[in-house]
Amino acid sequence: MLILTARFNLTKQEYCVLSSLNEGLSVKAVAKNLDISLHTVNGHMKSIYFKLHVKSRGEAQHKFNEYKAAVANVELSFQNEEKAKRVDELAIANVEKADRAAELVIANVEKADRAAELEVALIGRSSANKKVYQTESKFLACLNALAMARDNETGNHILRTQHYVKTIALRLKEMGNYKIELSDEMIKLLFKAAPLHDIGKVGIPDSILHKPGRLNDEEWQVMKTHATIGRAILASAELETQGGSGVITVAIQIAGDHHEKWDGSGYPGGLKGEEISLPARIMALADVYDALMSKRVYKTGWSHEDVTSEIVSQSGAHFDPLVVDAFMMERSGFLAIHSKYKDD
Ligand SMILES: [Fe+2]
Ligand SMILES: [Fe+2]
Repeated sequence: MLILTARFNLTKQEYCVLSSLNEGLSVKAVAKNLDISLHTVNGHMKSIYFKLHVKSRGEAQHKFNEYKAAVANVELSFQNEEKAKRVDELAIANVEKADRAAELVIANVEKADRAAELEVALIGRSSANKKVYQTESKFLACLNALAMARDNETGNHILRTQHYVKTIALRLKEMGNYKIELSDEMIKLLFKAAPLHDIGKVGIPDSILHKPGRLNDEEWQVMKTHATIGRAILASAELETQGGSGVITVAIQIAGDHHEKWDGSGYPGGLKGEEISLPARIMALADVYDALMSKRVYKTGWSHEDVTSEIVSQSGAHFDPLVVDAFMMERSGFLAIHSKYKDD
């Protein structure tokens, strides 16, 4: 009789695993005619002990093979357990991943919430803006109607000067001048603000405004106050339309400064060069071009060529030289605008 024994010390992890496998392993061992005992310490399996009873070397070999198979099974169990552990770890990792994903989802939801809140805030703001814009449009419509009603010029003068101003602004920008000041938005504002350049005439008495003839010096001094009056009227309107497009702010510059001259000889402030706002420097040329081209009770209209010569001669005196340059490049466009919106 040969006795083949084997004893394996187990790692903490292994006997934890084997404890749970104990019953199944014993059953398997009995079925294979293996003696197997488990050594435990404090209720925990410390080692596994195989004792094999054999009658011959052949049987020993056979049993040994069985033993190896049993061990292999145990190892397989370990491996499986390891695998399970790895699966568990993987599961844990996946759970952690899922947790992180959940956190990410929560973060994204929070982000979406914040985005929604922001959107709500923006919608609120844009609806507030919409209100200001509506108020501004109404103001503008009223002021335009008032300017038209009180102006001694024709309604077409307002249309023509509006288009001249836009034409010069676009050309100046194309020439690379005042590119920062003349944004697309500013050009739109200029176009909308231009009709208000003489709004201050609402404060000029009819006897002067509609005098059929040239004004005397005293009357002329009164007439000149329309620039200051216009600025003051629009300043009140500006307070009511704060947060709007800024068209009233541009209109204030135009109304207040459109009779200033580049060389400082204009009114009401005697401003010089770039002290005069750019919208007003553009308006000044547009206004003079149209005034000279138009018939008055006391004068006939000038020819386009004469007006052009006059404007060129005033470059650096009455007008900003760059604005004159832009006009020269667009002078045929000016004539086209004048013909399109000619007075009846
Ligand atoms: Fe004026
Ligand atoms: Fe005018």
